[in-house]
Amino acid sequence: MPAVAVVGGQWGDEGKGKIVDYLSQNAHIVARYSGGNNAGHTVMNEAGEFKFHLVPSGIFWPQTTCIIGNGVVVDPDVLWQEIQGLAGRGVDVAARLRLSDRAHLIMPYHILLDQLEERSRGRDAIGTTGKGVGPAYVDKTARSGIRVGDLLDLEGLLPRLQAILEYKNKLITRVYDGTPFSVEQVFERCRTWLERLEPFIAPVEMTMRQALEEQRSVLLEGAQGSLLDLDHGTYPYVTSSHPTVGGACIGLGISPRDVTGICGVFKAYSTRVGGGPLPSELNDATGDAIRQRAWEYGTTTGRPRRCGWFDAIAARYSASVNGFTDAILTRLDVLDGFHPVKVCVEYRYDGREMRHFPSSTAQLAHCTPVYEELPGWERPTAGLTRWEELPKEAQRYVARLEELIGSPISLISTGPRRHETIALRSVL
Ligand code: GDP
Ligand code: IMO
Ligand code: MG
Repeated sequence: MPAVAVVGGQWGDEGKGKIVDYLSQNAHIVARYSGGNNAGHTVMNEAGEFKFHLVPSGIFWPQTTCIIGNGVVVDPDVLWQEIQGLAGRGVDVAARLRLSDRAHLIMPYHILLDQLEERSRGRDAIGTTGKGVGPAYVDKTARSGIRVGDLLDLEGLLPRLQAILEYKNKLITRVYDGTPFSVEQVFERCRTWLERLEPFIAPVEMTMRQALEEQRSVLLEGAQGSLLDLDHGTYPYVTSSHPTVGGACIGLGISPRDVTGICGVFKAYSTRVGGGPLPSELNDATGDAIRQRAWEYGTTTGRPRRCGWFDAIAARYSASVNGFTDAILTRLDVLDGFHPVKVCVEYRYDGREMRHFPSSTAQLAHCTPVYEELPGWERPTAGLTRWEELPKEAQRYVARLEELIGSPISLISTGPRRHETIALRSVL
């Protein structure tokens, strides 16, 4: 039985939440491995519509154990809100959710610093979600982070918190002219978090290991997208973690040998929220039409998403960095009625053709897309569940994307609801 990763193939918001909810019907464990509540994963099923920021999107299936792995950074207030919201809608979160004691906490000063740092970047702002994710990962790497497990020993935590806050307060007041935090208040928050979250805290690596040894199926839920990866994305316009599949092993304490399937989720066009280059961006009526049709506004921040045609150069790069065994195509229905549909198959840079995704963000920003045009389709694909029902032109579009990505397309999503899915090959 496999561990199968679901990884964002583009710049995030590909529809991972919908796909994870769909695939979790066959999963024993569903585990988030990276990012924090910068993620917003939408799930629509019989229970209603949900937007998850931390809780794995497989939580609705009663046979699943849902894990928040060590690679995730956790804002305990956001997690608590999510748990409460789910419990209020009848989901048995207490029985199903486990939080790694090795996961790092997003502290109140991380949220403030995220906002202060963004402000000080001025025109070069990254466009972060402002949730404290970057500063929490900075502290993790600097070895001055606070982990979920530290809450279990509040006595031991207090002197560390005092030392950390002494430094953070200097940074906040002297560099950014901000308002300092009181140790007492932050410590009181820690006490509250412990009271609320203690039942969920567990050494989840053991649960993962046991499930893998017992050959049970495990779904690894990615957040963000490969082109936002700290190493492989459009640096510095990236997030501070590893959405690519390598992050799944680090972020859950499993071996690459455990991962038998790697699914890249791609939407049928491109979007990006925040700063940084998006070569196939459409700053015109077509871009606006996609945004309105697809309601491309951020799940976490409500910001309008930048929209453009599918970028096959970026997609192929993403496939090579991850080694996708499968591709999953979402939001095909959004392109219903567009004539023609276009795919970026080449960049032009400095008068020459370029077929690779450059590491230099400045270079990428000067790449212009070269498009291949394909015929659009008249009949809507929205809600279809069988390949044969798709208009011929839509089939041709999917087949061309498959060729360009270089991985077989195993699922096609034709709407936001769980059942609006065409299964071509079994993934899990
Ligand atoms: P995620 O971050 O990758 O989980 O994606 P988001 O939830 O942030 O954004 C994806 C949006 O597309 C959500 O509003 C989903 O409900 C919606 N969605 C997912 N799949 C489809 C699809 O196939 N068609 C349409 N029309 N909407 C979809
Ligand atoms: P899901 O899981 C889309 C983007 C932000 C910003 C950059 C850095 O829903 O696909 P951060 O707050 O992480 O420091 O911001 O990354 N970003 C996302 N964009 N989907 C996401 O998550 C994102 N998470 C972060 O907009 O450009
Ligand atoms: Mg999202």
